[in-house]
Amino acid sequence: MIRVSIVGGSGYVGGELLRILLKHPHVEVRQVTSERLAGQWFHRAHPHLRGLSDLRFVPMEKLEACDVLVLALPHGRAMRSIDRWARLADRIIDCSADFRLRDPTVYERWYGTPHRAPAWLDRFVYGLPELNREAIRNARYVSGVGCNAVATILAVWPLVRAGLVDSGRGIIAEVKAGSSEAGRQAGPASHHPERSRSIRSYAPVGHRHTAEVQMALGLEAVHLSMTAVETVRGVLATCHVFSKRPVTERDLWRAYREAYAGEPFVRIVHERTGLYRHPDPKVLVGSNYADVGWALDEQTGRIVAFGAIDNLMKGAAGNAVQCLNLMCGFDERAGLDAPGLYPV
Ligand SMILES: NC(=O)c1ccc[n+]([C@@H]2O[C@H](COP(=O)([O-])OP(=O)(O)OC[C@H]3O[C@@H](n4cnc5c(N)ncnc54)[C@H](OP(=O)(O)O)[C@@H]3O)[C@@H](O)[C@H]2O)c1
Repeated sequence: MIRVSIVGGSGYVGGELLRILLKHPHVEVRQVTSERLAGQWFHRAHPHLRGLSDLRFVPMEKLEACDVLVLALPHGRAMRSIDRWARLADRIIDCSADFRLRDPTVYERWYGTPHRAPAWLDRFVYGLPELNREAIRNARYVSGVGCNAVATILAVWPLVRAGLVDSGRGIIAEVKAGSSEAGRQAGPASHHPERSRSIRSYAPVGHRHTAEVQMALGLEAVHLSMTAVETVRGVLATCHVFSKRPVTERDLWRAYREAYAGEPFVRIVHERTGLYRHPDPKVLVGSNYADVGWALDEQTGRIVAFGAIDNLMKGAAGNAVQCLNLMCGFDERAGLDAPGLYPV
């Protein structure tokens, strides 16, 4: 058993980390922090976890040494104390955006402030197993992934890998996201009368996850458009790609099958009939699966690539545990084998 502590455990990602790790066969949850709820039971923040643990939240100052520290703090917090985290644990997984990018100037361009710990950026591996499995296996420090970025990257990666993308035109990803993506801190945009039933374009250009997608795919021309939709969980990336040579359905089947052969959490959804012909995040709620698929417009050479995930699972906590499993030499699927709920 390894000892894992969670920093920022009262948030939505923290709750999902706890739901997975309390049942993980090789993990002992050691400490979970919350400043606001220090001294209180976990179910005060996560009512669905009532009775599953004897532990209570502790403040950050009480953290002790452990084997793996998982950070689920708001953006900007992990990098401020990275030296302290590294003294507490040999291995760190940070779910925030603080260590996803390698280049501090790129970080500053997208996040608007200089990075507080630029010397640490090179020590982190971008934590997406489907692209970086071997590096994650050998890493001590792994970053999380942006949920919108993951849905986009996994949708398009087979096309990039197969050399099909016209890099001049690049990819245009229209990403729809549920409300839990913003965390549990309420704001004007998450107020129920404002959010409920809306379909709101909130970042048609300039979304920060663009930088991660560019880095992961090695492609400059990435255009991300974000729309907030009614659901609580779920991200659907609908990505328009123009092929640089004529393609057929058979080419696309080959590209996706080869890219994801043996992947434990990526499933191809591409059916001619039925209700669920293309990926739909609704059937992924609570699961670590990413469903990918495509549609081909043979007239114009446009490929519409789809990627669907649960933002709190494959987009955050589930993916972090997948990385933890790799870093610690466990079965990559340990603790993550539950399918989604249906119907929800
Ligand atoms: N939500 C998603 O879908 C998603 C997906 C991918 C990545 N992420 C990233 O994961 C991280 C956590 O996201 P989340 O959605 O779980 O956020 P959240 O629900 O807002 O939770 C934030 C956590 O951080 C703690 N915290 C807040 N302000 C703090 C401060 N000033 N100092 C110390 N602790 C503080 C909170 O604890 P207290 O009880 O003390 O307030 C809470 O436990 C973020 O960096 C986010 O970008 C989120």
